Amino acid sequence: MTKSAAMKSVNVAAVAAAALLAGCSQDGGRQSDGEQPKDALSVIAERTSVRRYENREVPDEAVEKLLRAAMCAPTAVNLQPWEFIVVKDKTTLAQLAAANRYGGMIAQAPLAIVVCGDTLQEASGQPNKWWMLDCSAATENILLAATAQGLGAVWTAAYPHEDRIAAVRKILSIPERYVPLCVVPVGYPADPTARPKDKWRPSKIHKERF
Ligand SMILES: Cc1cc2nc3c(=O)[nH]c(=O)nc-3n(C[C@H](O)[C@H](O)[C@H](O)COP(=O)(O)O)c2cc1C
Repeated sequence: MTKSAAMKSVNVAAVAAAALLAGCSQDGGRQSDGEQPKDALSVIAERTSVRRYENREVPDEAVEKLLRAAMCAPTAVNLQPWEFIVVKDKTTLAQLAAANRYGGMIAQAPLAIVVCGDTLQEASGQPNKWWMLDCSAATENILLAATAQGLGAVWTAAYPHEDRIAAVRKILSIPERYVPLCVVPVGYPADPTARPKDKWRPSKIHKERF
């Protein structure tokens, strides 16, 4: 790649990251803090599961950016079958932590976002077979938007574990047609020097055929 082509691609990535931070809805969500956004590829490469958090609140503006990023995700037939529950109550966070034996960190986080999928299509009432795919894309956007803002987060699974789904449903009064996909605790990383795992495996790549 030439130097100018490389610069162009970096700029495109920076614009993409800025758009993600600003929110993809037409009414804006402009960045007001004047901070230089990180470029999109750096954010993707830096994301790692963060399970220990500082005892510090996350501003509502930062949470809104996570939710705006979530709703920028691609979604089959543009059905947008997602619902997000923002939980800050300490007792509820402790209950969510207890619902997943690999979710103890939820109780230590200042907040969690519970991503739920609508199993039915709003207009027709027909099953929506793509809900978990769309909600997974939304969840990844939350994780990336957290990294972009210097926050840490981790996907903790409710779906497909029936016992966790039932527990989360009960704790948060989620109606039957919606399924909690995951609980994402969010906070400022207790160890900001933690590095992502190196998961690059060229052997996973196939040329033309498997
Ligand atoms: C579908 C899914 C479910 C996960 N569930 C949990 C979980 O319940 N508890 C947890 O600590 N991490 C959970 N993780 C995080 C993974 O353990 C983590 O992504 C993986 O170890 C790779 O590490 P990295 O995210 O730092 O790259 C989950 C991730 C995914 C995608």
